[in-house]
Amino acid sequence: MNLRSTLLTAALLAGAVSGMNAEEFVIRTDKPGATVQPTMYGLFFEDINYAADGGLYAEMIKNRSFEFPQSLMGWESSGKVSVRDDGPFERNPHYVRLSPPGHGHKRTALTNEGFFGVAFRKGEEYRFSVWARSAGDRPSKIRVELTDPAAMGETQVMASATIDITGGEWKRYTVRLTPKETISKGRLRVFLDSKEACDLEHLSLFPTDTWQGHENGLRKDLAQKLADIHPGLLRFPGGCIVEGTDLATRYQWKNSVGPVENRPLNENRWHYTFPHRFFPDYYQSYGLGFFEYFQLAEEIGAEPLPVLSVGLACQYQNKGMDAHVPVDSLQPYIDDALDLIEFANGPVTTGWGKLRADMGHPEPFNLKFIGIGNEQWGPEYPERLEPFMKAIRAKYPDIQIVGSSGPSASGEKFDYLWPEMKRLKADLVDEHYYCPEEFFLTQADRYDSYDRKGPKVFAGEYACHGKGKKYNHFNAALMEAAFMTGLERNADIVQMATYAPLFAHVEGWQWRPDMIWFDNLNSIPTASYFVQQLYSTHKGTRVLPLTMEGKPVTGADGQNGLYASAVVDDASGEYIVKAANTSDSPRELTLRFDGMKKGRKLTEGRAITLSSDDPDADNTLDNPTRIRPVETTLTLPATGPLTVTLPAKTFGVYILK
Ligand code: AHR
Repeated sequence: MNLRSTLLTAALLAGAVSGMNAEEFVIRTDKPGATVQPTMYGLFFEDINYAADGGLYAEMIKNRSFEFPQSLMGWESSGKVSVRDDGPFERNPHYVRLSPPGHGHKRTALTNEGFFGVAFRKGEEYRFSVWARSAGDRPSKIRVELTDPAAMGETQVMASATIDITGGEWKRYTVRLTPKETISKGRLRVFLDSKEACDLEHLSLFPTDTWQGHENGLRKDLAQKLADIHPGLLRFPGGCIVEGTDLATRYQWKNSVGPVENRPLNENRWHYTFPHRFFPDYYQSYGLGFFEYFQLAEEIGAEPLPVLSVGLACQYQNKGMDAHVPVDSLQPYIDDALDLIEFANGPVTTGWGKLRADMGHPEPFNLKFIGIGNEQWGPEYPERLEPFMKAIRAKYPDIQIVGSSGPSASGEKFDYLWPEMKRLKADLVDEHYYCPEEFFLTQADRYDSYDRKGPKVFAGEYACHGKGKKYNHFNAALMEAAFMTGLERNADIVQMATYAPLFAHVEGWQWRPDMIWFDNLNSIPTASYFVQQLYSTHKGTRVLPLTMEGKPVTGADGQNGLYASAVVDDASGEYIVKAANTSDSPRELTLRFDGMKKGRKLTEGRAITLSSDDPDADNTLDNPTRIRPVETTLTLPATGPLTVTLPAKTFGVYILK
């Protein structure tokens, strides 16, 4: 136990800070309310900030199929390298020919720079694979190396292997490489090592040790961080990338399934959206596609929530209607939605169900929810959503449909769309709020007054954006924790919530804040990550009324920056109180559990707190665990209510059995 947690324990045990008046939380254990939905506290995955290629998707080679508009982007070539376009994969036709350079001392080689480097760890195994054929009558040969370009001469080579390429038929070849050093900015180098030319396509390098060991797998540390949240939901494949800058570049799920070599490349709109964060090499390989998303959701115990285009290209970037699909031409888009449900749930005797089975998952994925449209607005949205809803309801009446309330949490677009979503009877409405501290401090009662008869709420993208260019600092996480007491208290209507965005590469981000930052070897959970994790892993099963002086604790006047909510977990028998103290003073809290059955009393208690000596601090690569939850045991009083001290600027979770 470190000094900070020792002091904290002392404060929690002592229960009282001299001169402080205790504020009493009354928790009615005999009046359990709404069920906390299993979907609560989920994840929103978008391929932004190199979250997929260069991030969660463990492929280490950029432009592995030479399909970028500049065919050799990401590659350095020397000697005789030519790009050809009659390769074995119809939707990725490009490949390279490596020919002898014409002189014994010259070399034909290709070097890939990876995503901000090719990073590998000493002693770990990597699988290099390539589709290849000899270009002539004789066999040919390549040498594959993992290198450290910062080192000199032979010491550059960290691992090496040769591959004999036999015959003129395209075949997949694989070798394992085990580097002798850990290098974060390495390279993959491929030499022609024979007098005969060869053709190479889909050069790929993965760690053998991926999440759950899948060959076309995910980076283990990043996927594990998702699993550790125990999320109830996974929304994918993104927000704006679903819409596309134009319709041609919208996310098309059908391109993201089937053999990985034949999934066509798509532009990633985040490569140029922000000119000050311009990444011309940011594309979507679709290697992480809808099958992999469904599989990940299943493996981390989350309900999948795919989002599809409603036929409106990004409305920020397209003011006129010419970039949108006319309502009477929507059928292919509607078919995409129906076919997706078949892909996820259909028997293996159906076309799309068979593809799922062929990809290794004959059992259905049990899809229950589908999002149609991301941040849409205006009459053009409901008039398109309606035919989707009719078709989905007719064929799959049990699938719940998530509609949009636009890009912000209030205003004209929002006020127009909510009644429209009610009229159309959307099951859930997706709300987005990227807002400053003030919003989060004042909105803990946001859902108290929502109409209980209409659609349920999905807080689909939200994050506190600090003033003064602060990102992912502790104070933002504290504001989120305070606000989330309102999500919890309104569990009857708020049935899904996902912080956004999820991942950001420290060298390749376009958007801040984000929940998990990473480089090629390491990953860092932010303070916001821990808030999400604390809510998710202590979400309970039913809400308990919690009041202070007869009112919910929403930070309102008189409550001076205090926020709280409570749940019971029917399975474990625990009462869980979450409290955020956003004020500058410690607060003494009396937790009074009313209505417990006669003879029952609290027997065990724990407190988990999240705080920071500096509210502007965040977790960084250099100091990844500066802010993290600290758990302590509570000493329970022999009689009477429990009193705890919640330090200033602290989020506390109290778990009592
Ligand atoms: O999360 C980043 C972007 O924010 C999403 O793509 C979009 O839905 C929102 O505007």
